[in-house]
Amino acid sequence: MTKIELMTRFAVAPVFALSLAWSGYTAEAADAGHLPNITILATGGTIAGTGANSTTTVGYTAAKVGVEALIDAVPEIKKVANVKGEQIFQIASESMTNDHWLKLAKRVNTLLAQPDVDGIVITHGTDTLEETAYFLDLTVKSEKPVVMVGAMRPSTAISADGPVNIYNAVVLAGSKEAEGKGVMIAMNDEISAARDVTKTNTSLTSTFRTPELGVIGYMQNNAPHFYRESLRRHTANAEFDVSNLDKLPAVDIVYGYANINPIALNAFIGAGDKGIVYAAVGDGSLGAGIKPDLIEARKKGVVVVRSSRVGNGIVARNGEANDDELDFVVSDTLNPQKARILLMLALTKTDDTKAIQTMYYEY
Ligand code: SIN
Repeated sequence: MTKIELMTRFAVAPVFALSLAWSGYTAEAADAGHLPNITILATGGTIAGTGANSTTTVGYTAAKVGVEALIDAVPEIKKVANVKGEQIFQIASESMTNDHWLKLAKRVNTLLAQPDVDGIVITHGTDTLEETAYFLDLTVKSEKPVVMVGAMRPSTAISADGPVNIYNAVVLAGSKEAEGKGVMIAMNDEISAARDVTKTNTSLTSTFRTPELGVIGYMQNNAPHFYRESLRRHTANAEFDVSNLDKLPAVDIVYGYANINPIALNAFIGAGDKGIVYAAVGDGSLGAGIKPDLIEARKKGVVVVRSSRVGNGIVARNGEANDDELDFVVSDTLNPQKARILLMLALTKTDDTKAIQTMYYEY
């Protein structure tokens, strides 16, 4: 059985103050001749962040450390994969844009089409990690593993979670069991599916949760252990093709609350949005302060999706609104930020609301 020993802390190590030493290492792919080839695409985030000192866990600067330093800080990954690093962006993930997603998806598809690339790991800030993961889940054209990873503590912190997360992500991306599972997130020894996972806590390392449905597996002792998988269409089985796209249709989210007014909605419509996701209260309920303007938006050709800010459960079609009559779409169980991604991609194919509704039930 693999024994993990906590090593001494590198007093002056520039990144990842803690490291792990493996004794009695027994990973499947220990034969260097058969190691999988994994490309790490680095985009920034806290995993590449640095704080003023080892006890700084908030108020640090994200996206400072380069991909080679991230790799060098976890020498154990060279025992389980032939790793190449590529710095595709260096940003905090709150600044992620549609343009970044298009560039990233194209790069992932180019890499995965190469026979000498077996899997991809993407390091990313946690704030919008679930969104990038779902975008890739719908646009990557390969069964090869794509694993996203972040960290809640900057690289300079005591017990930084980045090193073990990266290690697990590389092991996962190099494993046969991970093929065909869609884009996954490896954080905190858990494996989550891109469609269903969400960030639930501002600071805890256990922040990524899949409410009620649960993780799809665990990482333990240098191997993934799977227990379930998403039944929804993704990756090679998805119909969306971004290879020739340089722009996505404009779609924004309007947040629902008591005393709702239509000012933000109408500003988005005035700015030319093609679709609106309404992050409604409850089961997609439309307050009197916004319902007439949503109906008006639909009459102008804007696709209106009723989602929910609740974060759990199905938004029922023809439940809190007569969607058939109003020609609205419901987001099924997708949270508003993911419903927005599916709507943008759907609008690259059609503006037929029946076809778009079917997509919400399939993806
Ligand atoms: C970010 O999302 O880039 C900053 C926060 C984080 O990575 O945890």
